[in-house]
Amino acid sequence: MPNALDFFISQFRSHLDLSNEPSGYYRPRPYRNASVRFRNCALADFNERRDILINEAGLNTFLFRADKIPGCDLLSDSGTTTMTSEQWAAMIVGDEAYGSNEGYFELKQQVGETFGPDWRQKSGLRVGDREPLFIFHQGRAAENALFTVLSRELKKTGFPKPKPFSSDLLPQLRSRIENRIRAVKGQTVGPFEPFFVVPSNSHFDTTEGNIEDKFMVPLNLPCREHLENNENFPFRGNMDLEALENLLASEPGRVPLVYVTITNNTGGGQPVSMENIKRVREITRRHKVPFFFDACRFAENAWFIREEEKGYGDRRIGDIVREMFDQVDGFHISFKKDGLGNIGGAICLREDGAFTKRFPQFANELTDYQIMTEGHPTYGGLAGRDLKALAEGLRTVTRQDYLNLRVRQMQRFGDRLTMLGIPIVRPIGGHAIYIDIDKFFDGAGRDEELKGISFTSLLLIAGHRFCELGLYAFGSFDGRKEVPPEPRVNNVRAAVPRLTYEDRDLFAAAEAVKILHDHRDRIPGVRVDYGRDLKLRHFKSRFSFIM
Ligand SMILES: Cc1ncc(COP(=O)(O)O)c(C=O)c1O
Repeated sequence: MPNALDFFISQFRSHLDLSNEPSGYYRPRPYRNASVRFRNCALADFNERRDILINEAGLNTFLFRADKIPGCDLLSDSGTTTMTSEQWAAMIVGDEAYGSNEGYFELKQQVGETFGPDWRQKSGLRVGDREPLFIFHQGRAAENALFTVLSRELKKTGFPKPKPFSSDLLPQLRSRIENRIRAVKGQTVGPFEPFFVVPSNSHFDTTEGNIEDKFMVPLNLPCREHLENNENFPFRGNMDLEALENLLASEPGRVPLVYVTITNNTGGGQPVSMENIKRVREITRRHKVPFFFDACRFAENAWFIREEEKGYGDRRIGDIVREMFDQVDGFHISFKKDGLGNIGGAICLREDGAFTKRFPQFANELTDYQIMTEGHPTYGGLAGRDLKALAEGLRTVTRQDYLNLRVRQMQRFGDRLTMLGIPIVRPIGGHAIYIDIDKFFDGAGRDEELKGISFTSLLLIAGHRFCELGLYAFGSFDGRKEVPPEPRVNNVRAAVPRLTYEDRDLFAAAEAVKILHDHRDRIPGVRVDYGRDLKLRHFKSRFSFIM
């Protein structure tokens, strides 16, 4: 009965094509669970969670004990990946030699495979001045090393004296830079007036912290579509090219490097288009300024390019990744995201790139810094087994089936929240859903009430953990009142760990959010009991409800 079989195959196939529709059945995952972890707490222990939240954690979600979260722990997608059997197997055969262990060579090899041959050492197995890969234990350690060494290099030519801005600088850019300079000055006791500006589509909070720590000014230049909340523009992570051009043309010498963060975590986890990346390359090349990626979610970014950008629909993810990385002079990465690792980070410098040419001593100095802070460059603060797991993770992360599952799960989660009436940032990005807290409270909350913190606190009592990435995380306190970030961001983020949750888990969290939304007028504000004026305050502060 071949016709009958053909008939059913075509039925199954067309059903599968519908599987990403909200009404369709869900495509089976491209993997099976190989190990599970039972929880040590029950969903109904609301009072226990209330007690821990108020008395132990001071309403700070970072300080809440993870083993008491029965629902979804969506605090971060960083380091929370469920590793594959292949990664665990690689860890077991990890080689723990102090220097030049097996994992180091495997990771180096894989970095070249994943990002392209330019990111592989060209001149044999030398460690030192021409090594493109510098390993660190996580992303922020890499950022810290980069900006520490960069500021030393910049100081070698004398730290420039403050000087007035050019009259060609766009007034809105000028006022944003001046505000940031004031903020950086307010936080430091150093002898330097902040002079250098490091622009990005949007810096992550630790990148920003590391830049400020070296008396430089982080500047976010998200694209117009982002500022206008354009829900139909797929590449809302893009950089504002006009602003970048104006900054580089009117303030030559102030910008030691330009960043693009892929995907744009701070802005909403949305991707940056290949076109935008190439335009940034063209502008930075013309102005002779090095161009870097913060590359944490490079594979998710490539998935969006393939899906949404003209000309890329039939390209392999791996090829798109290489094309992206062909554009930059260097990058840093936290392997805790698209390295599919639980720990790890790196800086990569193109041997013949603009950055290496401008700072010829940089790689040497960076190696010294690495030895002093992380250990020998061939392990960079990681165990040999971690390096092997990362090499294996980089092999998996560019799989089309994995990325389809990953990003489409995010879209189903977001669609479910929308269906329940929750205002989220759209289009939905690759690793997280961002709930727009201003809209959630219909603009009724005052900034001082920090309703994003109230929201995450109550959700923890419900049994799920999200993270405030808005007025508190990115804003500051000027001694009298809260100052919102510029441009304003007021989100709560639900970041989904990789390969960990099923749709039904995420939908359960969405239902708890709906209960909060239905009764949002009863959600109290919070007061800050500790840490309001500290740098990186959201990691450390304590709050209490205003009842
Ligand atoms: C865009 C971005 N950059 C840098 C980092 C810092 O990486 P890590 O957490 O490994 O220090 C993160 C972490 O979440 C991030 O999302």
